[in-house]
Amino acid sequence: MASHATAANDHASHGHGDTHGGHDHPKKVLFKIARQDKPGARRYHQTFEIDHVPGMNVISALQAIAKTPMPVGGDKPVTPVVWDCNCLEEVCGACTMVINGRVRQACTALVDNLDRNADGEIDLEPMSKFPVLRDLVVDRRRMFRSLERVKAWIPVDGYFDAGPGPVQSPSNQEETYPLSECMTCGCCMDVCPQYVKVEIERNPGETDSEFAAREQAAMDHAFVGPAPISQAMLFNAHPTGTMTKGERLEALMGPGGITDCGNAQNCVKVCPKNIPLTRSIAKAGRDTTIYAIKRWLSK
Ligand code: SF4
Ligand code: SF4
Ligand code: FES
Repeated sequence: MASHATAANDHASHGHGDTHGGHDHPKKVLFKIARQDKPGARRYHQTFEIDHVPGMNVISALQAIAKTPMPVGGDKPVTPVVWDCNCLEEVCGACTMVINGRVRQACTALVDNLDRNADGEIDLEPMSKFPVLRDLVVDRRRMFRSLERVKAWIPVDGYFDAGPGPVQSPSNQEETYPLSECMTCGCCMDVCPQYVKVEIERNPGETDSEFAAREQAAMDHAFVGPAPISQAMLFNAHPTGTMTKGERLEALMGPGGITDCGNAQNCVKVCPKNIPLTRSIAKAGRDTTIYAIKRWLSK
């Protein structure tokens, strides 16, 4: 949930001082924004200037830009910048972008707390590991496909009332609750050196279904990434989910699974939910090893 901006973090030196109750706020804010008109198109940048509003976040700044999308130095309005958002309280992950070189949620990025570049601008770029659809919006399907690959859910037999499920102990809850906070925002994937962007171009004459199949195959052979590994551990630890533990471990032992992790530990440093990703990755490594030995012994 967004908190209020503090004057202590305000980089007022970059703006022209406007004193409100002793706090120095710049009157204008500049944003240098990456633009891309369609997938695969050339990227360019435009700078926009908006009025500063105390406590504003990057989403409210983007809304202000959308109202009058006149770039600095331009003589006519341009196509409004496209971005994504939903919850506005760091729960859905849709607004994730790279702000001043750091991947994070735009809804909780308070303008007063952000640095300015040498030209006095705040930099906005799309995430780097996902194909850009337009401007700041990326194609996040690979993340959701990865959750399917590791079966990150609890299977049910049906929707009839089967009575209460198995009791989850407080210690189990304590272990799994932090993992359940993942919002599939992609921050951890964006900084992972092993998570290489998959962007497939359509071949001449390829049908929709042929292209979709080739795209899915590429996604399915690429590294699943830290968040899906952690989600596999979440559902493996659940008293009901543990019944399909083997299927998740098999998926993590396949192409693009746990062995692709280079243990650089970048992921854990950027997770906005402080999810213990490296602990999940270490557990996944141990569990897959034990599972592989047991499978070999039972042959
Ligand atoms: S620990 Fe593994 S998943 Fe995390 S950033 Fe490093 S390589 Fe990626
Ligand atoms: S583990 Fe953290 S950084 Fe990664 S997708 Fe989930 S919430 Fe985002
Ligand atoms: S809009 Fe949902 S996390 Fe920012």
